[in-house]
Amino acid sequence: MTLVDFFSPVRSGTTAHLDSAIWPHGARYDADGRIMVGGVALADIAETYGTAARVVDEHEVRLRCRAYRKTFPEAEIAYAATALLIGVVADWVTDEGLSMAVHSSGELAAALAAGVDPKRIILHANGLSREELATAVTQRVNRIVLGSPAEVDLLATVATRTQRVLLRLDPGIERDTRQSAAGFALGTPAAAAVAQVLGVPTLELIGFSCHLGSQLYNPDHYGEAIRRMIAEMAQVRHDHDRLLTDLDLGGGHAIAYRSGDAEMNLPELSAIIEDALDAGCARQHFPRPNVALEPGRGIVARAGVTLHRVMSVKHSDGGHVSVVIDSAARARSGDGAGMVVANRRATGPQVTATVAGRAGDVILATGVRLPADLRPGELLAVPCTGAYHHSSTRTRVIAVRAGQYAQLVHREPDFLDRDAS
Ligand SMILES: Cc1ncc(COP(=O)(O)O)c(C=O)c1O
Repeated sequence: MTLVDFFSPVRSGTTAHLDSAIWPHGARYDADGRIMVGGVALADIAETYGTAARVVDEHEVRLRCRAYRKTFPEAEIAYAATALLIGVVADWVTDEGLSMAVHSSGELAAALAAGVDPKRIILHANGLSREELATAVTQRVNRIVLGSPAEVDLLATVATRTQRVLLRLDPGIERDTRQSAAGFALGTPAAAAVAQVLGVPTLELIGFSCHLGSQLYNPDHYGEAIRRMIAEMAQVRHDHDRLLTDLDLGGGHAIAYRSGDAEMNLPELSAIIEDALDAGCARQHFPRPNVALEPGRGIVARAGVTLHRVMSVKHSDGGHVSVVIDSAARARSGDGAGMVVANRRATGPQVTATVAGRAGDVILATGVRLPADLRPGELLAVPCTGAYHHSSTRTRVIAVRAGQYAQLVHREPDFLDRDAS
C-alpha cells in the first residue's frame, strides 16, 4: 500500500472548484477528490517520480502564448526565458509563434540547443563576457540589448559583422516594486550611448528597450514609458538623422499568486499601449515603431504546480500548527502561497498553519489554511509556481498534456537529500 492509498481520498458529492485565476486551465478534482492538472492526477505524478516535483502544464503555456498574441496582434511577443527555460518549453512557445528573450549565455545556449531560430532571439547583454558576446555574434543572434557603455565597448570589439542592437533605457517610471533601474537614463546618458553606438560601424542601432520592473499591475506605467521613449527616438532622428524602428517594452506583467490577488489586465494594457503609441507618434510626427513585449511570468507562472510531501505536522499549545514539507532549504520564502492538499478533497475543519522546508528554519509560508486532520505523507500542491522557481529549487520537472506525463528534468541532489533519483 502506498502513502497515497493509505490516506485514501474522501469522496464528496459537492462540485469542487480550483480558482482558474491561479490554477492551470482545466485543473479540477476528479471523482476521487484528487487534483488533476492537464488530465493527470497530481498524486499519480508524486507516486511515479517522488517529491518535491514541479508539474508544468503544456496546454496552459500554449493558452497564455495565444492570449498574448491575440491581445497584442501588432506586437512581437518574446518569451523571457529567464522565467523558465527547459527545451520543451522553448518548443511550445516558439511553436505558438513567440520569439525568445534570453538574459545569459546559458539561456542562449539552451535556446539554441532547443532549436530556436537565432533570428527570433533577443539577447540582453547585461553581465556577459567578451567571449559570450562573441559567441552571440557568431551565432547570428538577431538583436543584442546593451545597457552600459562598457557593454557597447565590449560588443564593438567582437562584432566582426553587422550586429543589430537596441539600447536599454531607464524611462524613469515609478515602479511598483523594489527592482533597481537598469540601462541609460533619458536625456544626456541616453544621447551619449546613442552616439557611442553610432560611432561603431558594425553596430546597427535599431531601437530602444526598457524593462519597468516585475509584478507590475498598473498598465499606465507602460503608456508613460512609451511616450518618453518615442520622444527619445525622435531626438535621435533630430540629432543624427537616424530613424529608429524598434521599441521593446520588456516584461513585468503581474500575475495572481493567491485567489483574489490583482494581476495585469492584458486587454487594458493593450489599449493603453495603442493609445500611447498613437499619441506619442502623433506628437513627435514619428512613424509607429515595431513593438516587442517580453513576458516571462505571464507565460509560465500559472502553468506550474509544485508538489510536496508532508513530513511532519506539529500542533502546539495555543493552537499553532507547524507543517514541515520536503522542500529544499533554498526554496524561497513565500513559495507556499495558495498551497492545498492534492491527494484528497478536504472538506472538514481547517487550521491556519506555518509551513517550513526540511531545514525547519526556512519558513515557506505563514497563514496557510490546511485541513485540521493533515497527516505526514499527504501531498500538498502549490499553484502558480511555473516562473522563477526552477532556478531557486532545482527539483524534478514533469510536463503534463491531455492525460499524459513525462519527466523533463531530473532533480539535482542537495545536502538535505535522503533519497536520490
Ligand atoms: C529585460 C527583461 N525582460 C523581461 C523580463 C521578464 O519579466 P517578467 O517575468 O516579470 O515578465 C525580465 C525579467 O527580469 C527582464 O529583465
